[in-house]
Amino acid sequence: MNYASTIVGWGKALPSKSRTNADLSKLVDTDDEWIVSRTGIRERRIASDNETTFTLACDAANRALDQASLSAKDVDLVIVATLTPEYGFPSTASLVQDAIGATTAGAFDLNAACAGFAYGLAVARGFIESEMYRTIVLIGSDTMSRVVDWTDRSTCVLFGDGAGAVVLQRTDTPGGIGSTCLRSDGSGGPLLIQRAGGSRHPTSAQTLRDGSHYLRMNGREVYRFAVTATTEAAIAVMVDAGWTSNEVDLFIPHQANVRIIESAARSIGIPMDNVFVNADRYGNTSAGSIPIALCEALDHQRIQVGSKIITVGFGAGLAWAAHAITWTAPTASS
Ligand SMILES: CC(C)(COP(=O)(O)OP(=O)(O)OC[C@H]1O[C@@H](n2cnc3c(N)ncnc32)[C@H](O)[C@@H]1OP(=O)(O)O)[C@@H](O)C(=O)NCCC(=O)NCCS
Repeated sequence: MNYASTIVGWGKALPSKSRTNADLSKLVDTDDEWIVSRTGIRERRIASDNETTFTLACDAANRALDQASLSAKDVDLVIVATLTPEYGFPSTASLVQDAIGATTAGAFDLNAACAGFAYGLAVARGFIESEMYRTIVLIGSDTMSRVVDWTDRSTCVLFGDGAGAVVLQRTDTPGGIGSTCLRSDGSGGPLLIQRAGGSRHPTSAQTLRDGSHYLRMNGREVYRFAVTATTEAAIAVMVDAGWTSNEVDLFIPHQANVRIIESAARSIGIPMDNVFVNADRYGNTSAGSIPIALCEALDHQRIQVGSKIITVGFGAGLAWAAHAITWTAPTASS
């Protein structure tokens, strides 16, 4: 029997505090017109002191389990995709496993930066289709506000905090995650990097002084990479799935920048009516971006049983990943 892996539950968690472009213009030399015209972002959510990658991940996971009508006791594995873990160690996934009561589950973190959730879908798919596990909770959770330099106008306007989770299960219904493409180009590592805090530059008075614990980015190069990577990976999974761009019901790209999304969608041949965009409200939530967008697409009845969906994540590494998914779980509109 060939088993498919399918999404049966979904949930998101966003901090309640919003920071608008006008708010940012009081912190750095920027304005709403510049940010909207370059990125399409209008506001982003910012975690308060008691909201962390872990708390957002737990909230999203519990909502996804409720949505699937499953208990945490049913979960075999918890994966948290994040580049802003709760601690250096232990893993955020182990903290989540304990907090949600997944007492018989394994747990680990996965770091593929903003592509983490998309990489996680491939990992979860592998565990399920090899019949090792039946039920997996995959969470993308990041608090980018904790690693952004709030004096650097070229990066601080781009990011926001948030988490999304899905429950994946083994099913004999055809569909689910059909095609997967994972890619990396480590030669581009310096283009988007947090230099300090690891084994090369352990945190020290010097790293704090020079600000190397903050995220640093070459925006233009990352922009170029993002458009090309998104386009190529989306086409790769579309072709593998045997779909044409006209047949794609919904494209859910990583929500880094609306211009990147529009440019890639144009190159792939998917009209913007069939593209889900919420970067205007949340900015780039890193590993949270795709599952948050997926939840909102479901809330807005943009997905029905049988919908053909393409997702693409990209980020530091450089790393990128895409999937072609045929939706199989009942939704509010099906
Ligand atoms: C960051 C980004 C929006 C910058 O847009 P851009 O059109 O490439 O802008 P540039 O980097 O060429 O900068 C143009 C000017 O705007 C200035 N600028 C940068 N940020 C600014 C801001 N927030 N407000 C006002 N001006 C700003 C720069 O200092 C530069 O000024 P200069 O010409 O006097 O040096 C764009 O490159 C981008 O989106 N890159 C991808 C980033 C991304 O998605 N990263 C995450 C991937 S997971």
